[in-house]
Amino acid sequence: MQIKDRTYVISGGASGLGKATAELLVENGASVVILDMSTESGEELVSKLGSTKAFFHETDVSSSSSIASAVKASLEFIKKTGHELGGVIPAAGVSLPAKIVDRNGEMCDMDQFDFVMNINVRGSVDLVRQFCPYWIKRQPEKEVDGGDAERGVIVLVASSAAFDGQPGQVAYSASKGAIASLTLPLTRDLARYGIRVVTIAPSLFESRMTSMMTQKVRDSLLRVMEFPLRPGQAHEFASLVKHSIENKMLNGTVVRLDGGMRMPSKM
Ligand SMILES: NC(=O)c1ccc[n+]([C@@H]2O[C@H](COP(=O)([O-])OP(=O)(O)OC[C@H]3O[C@@H](n4cnc5c(N)ncnc54)[C@H](O)[C@@H]3O)[C@@H](O)[C@H]2O)c1
Repeated sequence: MQIKDRTYVISGGASGLGKATAELLVENGASVVILDMSTESGEELVSKLGSTKAFFHETDVSSSSSIASAVKASLEFIKKTGHELGGVIPAAGVSLPAKIVDRNGEMCDMDQFDFVMNINVRGSVDLVRQFCPYWIKRQPEKEVDGGDAERGVIVLVASSAAFDGQPGQVAYSASKGAIASLTLPLTRDLARYGIRVVTIAPSLFESRMTSMMTQKVRDSLLRVMEFPLRPGQAHEFASLVKHSIENKMLNGTVVRLDGGMRMPSKM
């Protein structure tokens, strides 16, 4: 899918991996819609990228009505710029570590489990779902590749926790495992419309989410890295999103972006 003069919708785009993606896509001529709960960071990013290239809408992806209003606002922005929808990148995500039962015999809280699942899984699916009625009807790109021409790309965000979740990651791993598992059926649902699906599963990347880790956790993760011996940088994630958009043969797959690292059980 072309990047220049196409619009990419990024949830969680006000920070970390989503923000780096928005910056790289704009650098390459795209328009971006940032959907995030953090109005301050979202507006700050729009003023940096320029209001003709970027648009922010305060959105809570765990609420269907909030997404409905975000989709409406996004489509108005697209109409104004004339830059058709090229992709949806649901990058909003949260992690709330909790063991199933703690040392004192206390069970984990199911409200916290639901919170993680609602943002990471429901929010990603709902965002894609609500763009689809518009997306599948939009004029496809001119070039025809053995059937329908391309209409766009969905880049989902899983995590290495989908495969090697650590203690305390039952909720987060369940949510990211769900993203990895739904990649293929989503691809199969949308193939006839020329919409591809690629899931990226990063390991430890520098971001606000990981800045909350204790030094002890960081140090133990550094010890199990293969190469390079450092956390990933947000621009390295963004560059794989860019490639996923551009490379038509990437579809229905989960790509680990982890420098060969496998998360250990014990820290
Ligand atoms: N950083 C890592 O090491 C890492 C590793 C694997 C996967 N991931 C995944 O990458 C994605 C981005 O994470 P990040 O590291 O950039 O985190 P981040 O905290 O820097 O950014 C996440 C963004 O999502 C937004 N957000 C949270 N809840 C929301 C909601 N309900 N509605 C809308 N926006 C909401 C936040 O405001 C924030 O701007 C997440 O899905 C995360 O699980 C991150």
